[in-house]
Amino acid sequence: MQEIGQDPEMRAQLGATNPRMTVRGLSLWYGAKQALKDVSFDLHQREVLAFIGPSGCGKSTALKCLNRMHDGVRGVRIDGEIRFDGSEIYNDATDPPVYRRRFGWVAQKPNPFPWSIYENIAYGARIHGLAAGKAALDDHVEDCLRRAMLWEEVKESLHAKTGLDLSGGQQQRLCIARALGTQPDVLLMDEPTGSIDPIATARVEELMVDLGRTHSVVVITHSMMQARRVADRVAHFHMGELVAIGTTKEIFTNPQDKRTMDFITGAVG
Ligand SMILES: Nc1ncnc2c1ncn2[C@@H]1O[C@H](COP(=O)(O)OP(=O)(O)OP(=O)(O)O)[C@@H](O)[C@H]1O
Ligand SMILES: [Mg+2]
Repeated sequence: MQEIGQDPEMRAQLGATNPRMTVRGLSLWYGAKQALKDVSFDLHQREVLAFIGPSGCGKSTALKCLNRMHDGVRGVRIDGEIRFDGSEIYNDATDPPVYRRRFGWVAQKPNPFPWSIYENIAYGARIHGLAAGKAALDDHVEDCLRRAMLWEEVKESLHAKTGLDLSGGQQQRLCIARALGTQPDVLLMDEPTGSIDPIATARVEELMVDLGRTHSVVVITHSMMQARRVADRVAHFHMGELVAIGTTKEIFTNPQDKRTMDFITGAVG
C-alpha cells in the first residue's frame, strides 16, 4: 500500500472521514465590522491545510478562532460552531488553557524566549508536567529539536546559547520545536516564512510537510508557490468568506469559483 504522505489525493481522502476539527457557520465581528461570514470547513487528522487570500480577508482571524485566541478580546463576537474531536469548543466545560495545549502557534516573526535553547523547549514541557526528571526532559528537548530539524546545528550549545543567538531561520525552527514541546495535535502557523530568507524558508517548508504526516497543520501563506509545495488542501478566503476549499491540485488546476481563479492567477510569488 502506498504510504500516507506520498499522495495528497489519498491523504485528503483518508483524513476526510474522521476530522480533527469541524467548523460550521462561523461568523465573527470586531465591533460592527464583520470579519468572517458563515465559514465552514473540516481540518483533517494529518494534513497541511493552507489558508490563502488577499490581505484583510480574514485568514488570521479564522486561525485564531481554532484555538480560542479571541477569548477576552473586547468587542469580538463569534457565532457558529467549532468542534475538536467531536466536542464543541466554545462551551463552559472547556477550560481555555487546557484546550490551548492541543495547539502549537508559530508566528510570522520568530519570537524565541531570550533564554537558553534548552529552556525554550523545557519550559512548556515542565509547566504541563510532560517530562518527569532531568533525563526525561533532556530526551524530550532532543526529540523536539530533532523533529524541528535543528538538533545537529545546536546540540553543542543547548545551554551556552540563547534563542536570540541563532539565525532567523534557526530561530523559526526553534519556535516550531518549542511549539512541539507541549505535544500539540494541531499546529497553527501564521505566515511562518514571512520574515526569513529563501534557504531558511525551504527548510521550514520541508518541516511543514513532515509535520503534516503526524499532525494537523494549518498554514497561512501569501505565496502560491509555497501553498503548492506544502499543502494537501487549500482554503481560499475572500472578504471574510471561504469561497473555495479543496485539494491543492483541484484549487490550482481547476478552481470552480471565479474569485479563486482571479486570485491565483493574479497573485505573485
Ligand atoms: N483586532 C481587530 N479589531 C478590528 N478589526 C480587526 C482586528 N483584527 C483584524 N481586523 C479586521 O478584520 C479583517 C480581517 O483581518 P485579518 O487579520 O484576519 O486578515 P488577514 O487575511 O490575516 O490579512 P493579512 O494577510 O494582511 O494578515 C480586516 O479587515 C482587519 O482590518
Ligand atoms: Mg493575517
